Amino acid sequence: MSEVKLTVNGREVTRNVEDRTLLVSLIREHLGLTGTHVGCDTSQCGACTVHIDGQAVKSCTVFAAQVDGSEIVTIEGLANGDELHPMQSAFREHHGLQCGFCTPGMIMMAVDIVKRHPEGLDETVIRKELEGNICRCTGYHNIVKAIDAAAKEMRGTPAMAAE
Ligand code: FES
Ligand code: FES
Repeated sequence: MSEVKLTVNGREVTRNVEDRTLLVSLIREHLGLTGTHVGCDTSQCGACTVHIDGQAVKSCTVFAAQVDGSEIVTIEGLANGDELHPMQSAFREHHGLQCGFCTPGMIMMAVDIVKRHPEGLDETVIRKELEGNICRCTGYHNIVKAIDAAAKEMRGTPAMAAE
């Protein structure tokens, strides 16, 4: 067993977990934050994506004990109180989800993509960056539009024309 101390969505938490416990299991089963999803057992789908110390990471690919002392943000921690994060608003406005299963991971990855591309985004870059996130409803077109719109909203520039 290991004692793991984390800051999760701004709250300090300490849990005793088995050494083999994955971060996604700690998040979902120990902390009850079930917005982070598990969509595969091969590290391919990205539904489990969270931010670890500000970077998007698939939380099924790391042990909880490995990230002891880290700051974790999950989809539940993205909004500012009742005010949705611009990426969440854009997914809603541009119909960037269908069943919604992939959406938490898509949004957490999308926020990271915007941060890593201060020069701006285009459709090609967004699609390339999303290669680790799978939408089984195949709603990529509107997901790309939502990310582009949110990126521009976050930077105060006009979004690409609606298609
Ligand atoms: Fe982590 Fe699919 S559950 S990549
Ligand atoms: Fe259903 Fe993406 S919206 S899997």
